[in-house]
Amino acid sequence: MARFQRHVFICTNERASDDPKGCCKSKGGAELAEAFKKKLYERGYKRIVRPNKAGCLDQCALGCAVVVYPDGVWYGRVTVADVDEIIDSHIVGGKPVARLVIPDEALSGIDPDQPRDPFS
Ligand code: FES
Repeated sequence: MARFQRHVFICTNERASDDPKGCCKSKGGAELAEAFKKKLYERGYKRIVRPNKAGCLDQCALGCAVVVYPDGVWYGRVTVADVDEIIDSHIVGGKPVARLVIPDEALSGIDPDQPRDPFS
């Protein structure tokens, strides 16, 4: 069993076309997940960085949504054209791609009255 250094979760959730929430599948989520897998594997990161298809990450309005752990960096409106930049800058270089990062205040699901890190 590989002990991955990072996981890249890519939302591929699908909803009905008339659902007002929309979905990342309709914005290219499946193609995006394949692109991460192909490009990470091509670079030799198969046992180091794991791309995972994910269900809804609760950032539907900002899809395609991607989150990188353990960094806890959330990306929004990611397309296949952004994959090389995320890998080069963030995965390899350790510097998140600022133009795609969803700021904390824009993340859905954050309760401002709760501590940000429930494990601290
Ligand atoms: S459908 Fe992708 S974040 Fe909700």
